[in-house]
Formats: sequence, structure tokens, C-alpha cells
Amino acid sequence: MLGNTLRQLNHEVLLSLQKPLPRALTVDSGARNALADPSSARKKEDGSPVRSSGQAQWRQHSSVVPSGGPRKQLAHNFALQPELYPSSAGPVSRFEDVEFGTPIEVHIVRASYNADPFEKKVDLGVGAYRTEEGRPWVMPWVYTVRQQLAHDPTLNHEYLPFLGCERFTRCANELLLGDNSPAIQQGKVFGIQSLSGAGSVRIASEFLCKVMKYKTVFIPVETWENHYRLVTHGGFSDVREYRYWNTQTRTLDFEGLIEDLSAAPANSIVVLHPCAHNPTGCDPSHEQWDRIADIIEERRLFPFFDIAYQGLASGDIDEDAWAVRRFAERGIEFFCAQSFSKNCGLYGERTGNLAVMLNNPDKIEKVKSQFIVIARSIYCSPPSQGARIVTAMLGDPKLKEEWKTCLREMTNRIKDMRKGLKERLDALGTPGSWDHITQQVGFFSFTGLSERQVQLLREKYHVYMLSNGRANMCGLNTKNLDYTANAIHDIVTRLPEEDKNPLRA
Ligand SMILES: Cc1ncc(COP(=O)(O)O)c(C=O)c1O
Repeated sequence: MLGNTLRQLNHEVLLSLQKPLPRALTVDSGARNALADPSSARKKEDGSPVRSSGQAQWRQHSSVVPSGGPRKQLAHNFALQPELYPSSAGPVSRFEDVEFGTPIEVHIVRASYNADPFEKKVDLGVGAYRTEEGRPWVMPWVYTVRQQLAHDPTLNHEYLPFLGCERFTRCANELLLGDNSPAIQQGKVFGIQSLSGAGSVRIASEFLCKVMKYKTVFIPVETWENHYRLVTHGGFSDVREYRYWNTQTRTLDFEGLIEDLSAAPANSIVVLHPCAHNPTGCDPSHEQWDRIADIIEERRLFPFFDIAYQGLASGDIDEDAWAVRRFAERGIEFFCAQSFSKNCGLYGERTGNLAVMLNNPDKIEKVKSQFIVIARSIYCSPPSQGARIVTAMLGDPKLKEEWKTCLREMTNRIKDMRKGLKERLDALGTPGSWDHITQQVGFFSFTGLSERQVQLLREKYHVYMLSNGRANMCGLNTKNLDYTANAIHDIVTRLPEEDKNPLRA
């Protein structure tokens, strides 16, 4: 019964994708004249552009700024010309023709999980850490800092500067590149406090696209599903993929990666995960990173790192930043979007930094000024609480040690869960090899389960993960390991899917 409801929910959301273009976004003959030359609306009689301020003029002005291509332009113009709506419309809403946005799977999985009353349900879909008790974790040092902040009479709630708190960005850059980083000492690095990892990727994309006029961005296959959305909304229309994951061997497709990047046009942006790759849990070795850096230099590509799990791959913050530090050491300019959601458990505080390394420090102020325009046009300035918490911790050696202990505790728990799952599947004789479960690092295991298997797992056993087989190992604990392993065993035995997966033969 519940399964049916959830299926119906998913189905309805997916169906909405297939509906034709909404009526309000198509041009009918009545509207065509009004839409014919929007630019005429903003000219004075003598042909000069309207510049005066005030609501009416602003609306006219905004109607001629194309944002989001012709479809958006048309919708925008309709909204500005009420006479285009039938007067008999009465109570009919102008939002009548709005369709569902493209469904975001992780939200559907979360909603389905939350709505599921089954007692033994298991959440492996969530992209966040969970404790042995299956709960979110506020680390002890966070409580300590929150207490300190709560009693600090010098703090107020003024706006932060557009590019955020400088002490925070300095601490974040040092965490990324090391306390004694030559690049930082030479003044080649600055940071922009942004809305966590996602916000940093978004503003960086907009800068690379609009200011640098770069055209092409390469993202790995597989990658965090939001990368495509963030770079396209940041302005890129030419988004290409490079090979990353070998489904046959369930390891990094290094030859494919090198081949694809070697053929990339100069000045292409390359999105790279420095550690705990989402969703595959599979990272290049140090030697492989050096080879990637060679290609990036040779082809004059631009590396755009996205580090959302520093300290959560190996348990060591320095080791997990190795790739970024190596690029800095080699003098390769880069961007790095840095998130404190997972490693500090500050998901809702939207705490992140965009680290920028450039070889000519004289250009920093100009680059910053462009980022100010971008930040100002999206959210003005970032939130302060998360940045205060992280800055206080990174600036206090004792609290930083406590944090590192927490990181080790999290990674050890995840490793134990990986080991526990693999051991159980092996003991049950579940068809195929499950070595990849323990070989992969970070939150996620790219299980290799097919979409059909994932669906059946959800329907029959209430074990939730993403349809591409990504399972968050943090969702496992000693109380649900047996249940989950037995469920996976049953599903894999029922639906062997040998055709797709030679490791299962
Ligand atoms: C690779 C990667 N980058 C960025 C993010 C987004 O993190 P944030 O919550 O900090 O925006 C995630 C989260 O899942 C991620 O996996």
C-alpha cells in the first residue's frame, strides 16, 4: 500500500517532465506583436536608453535583460504585460501553467523514507553523517564553540562583507593548503566565503563563464548529481563528460580519464574531486594526480576542485588535501570549492569557501571585485554563524585536535560498517565480489546494484539508496547491518543481473 503511494509520487513527478511546453511560454498570434521587439520598450523617443530609477522603469529595464534564454524571456515578458491575460481570468492564477521542476532524486528518496512507517527501514540515501544510533551528529567541539559565541558580547548580527569574513577564508585556505603553504605565503591565494560547497561551485561557474568567457566545462562520469545543475545555472552551455568510473572493474577508469582530458580543448574547466569522490568513493593515487596535473598543464586546462569531504576519506585532513596542495606546489592556478557541511556537521549553516590560487597577486583585487558583483547579484553576503564556528575551532589548537579526533571517529565507524557489510555478504555467499565495499572511501559506496535491484530493495525491504546504486555507509549501524546484508543478498540472488555485471558471473 505504502509502496504504491510512493511509486505514485515518483511517477507523478517524473510524468511532469514529459509534459509539453507550458502554454504561457509559447507565442500565440495575439501575443506576437507585443513580444516582437522588447528592446523598443526601453528606449526613449529619441532612441536613448531609459536609465531612470523607480519601479516602473526598473520593470521595463528588467524585461529586456535576457536571463535564461528565449523561453525565459518570453515568460518574463508575459508577466510584465497583464493585458495579455484574458480579462475573464478572474480568480485564475498567473501560476496556472507552472509545471513541476525537474525532480531531484535525493529529495524523493528522503521524502519516501520519511513517509515510510516500517520500523526496520534503513536510510542509505541521505548525503549526511549518521551516528551508530542513526542520528545526525553535533560534534562536542561545536557545542563548546556555540556556548562561547553565545556569551561573546562583542558579536553582533551585522552583515558580513560581500566576500565574507576574511579570518574565516584565511583559516579555510590554510586548512586546504597547509599552515606553511608557500603559495599562501607568496600572497597567491585568497578565499571567498560562500554558501557552502554548492554556493561556491555556483559563483565560481558564473565567474569562469561570464568574466573569463570560458565555454566548456568537463565533469566526471559519475559525479555529484548537482554539478551539472550548478555549472549550467552558472552559465555554461557546453558541459562535457570525462570518463572516471569503470563499471566492469568498479575502479577508477584512469586510462579513460587521461584520454578524455588529453582531447579537451584549451581553457576547458575540469571539475575534480580531491578526495572521497561522490558517488564512487574511488580516488586517484598520488602518481595518478601528478599525471592529471601534467595533462592539465600540457592542455592548458583549468582545474576546478570541489572538496566536500576533507578529513573524511583517510581520516587525515592533510592527506585528503594532497591533490590540491600538489597543484599549488606545481604553480598551477586553480579554484577549489570547500565545504564544511560534512566534516564539521554544519549542513544547515551553509559554510564554505572558494579558494582561488592565481600566480599574479597583483590581479587579486580585480578578481575579487568581479566576485563581489556576482555574490551581490545572487545573495549579497554569506551567513555568519557557521563561519564563526569553524574559525573559532581552526584558530584554537585544542579544539582543532578535538575536531580531528571526531573525523577519525567518523571515518573509523564508516570503515567498520563497510567491513561489516562485506563480511556478511561474503558469508551469505551473495553472488559476485564485494571487495569494492571496503576498497572505496568516504561516505558512499557505489554498490554496483542495478536500478531494478535498488527499487526492489526499497519496495520489499524498505532499504533506501539512490537509483544509481549509491549507498551512504553512514546509514549503517550495528543494529541494521544484518538486516541490510540479508536484504541485499536476497535481492541480488533474485535479480542477478549477470548480463550487466561480470563481477557477478
Ligand atoms: C562533491 C560534493 N560537492 C559539494 C557538495 C555540497 O555540499 P554543501 O552542502 O556544502 O553545499 C556535496 C554534497 O553532497 C558533494 O558531494
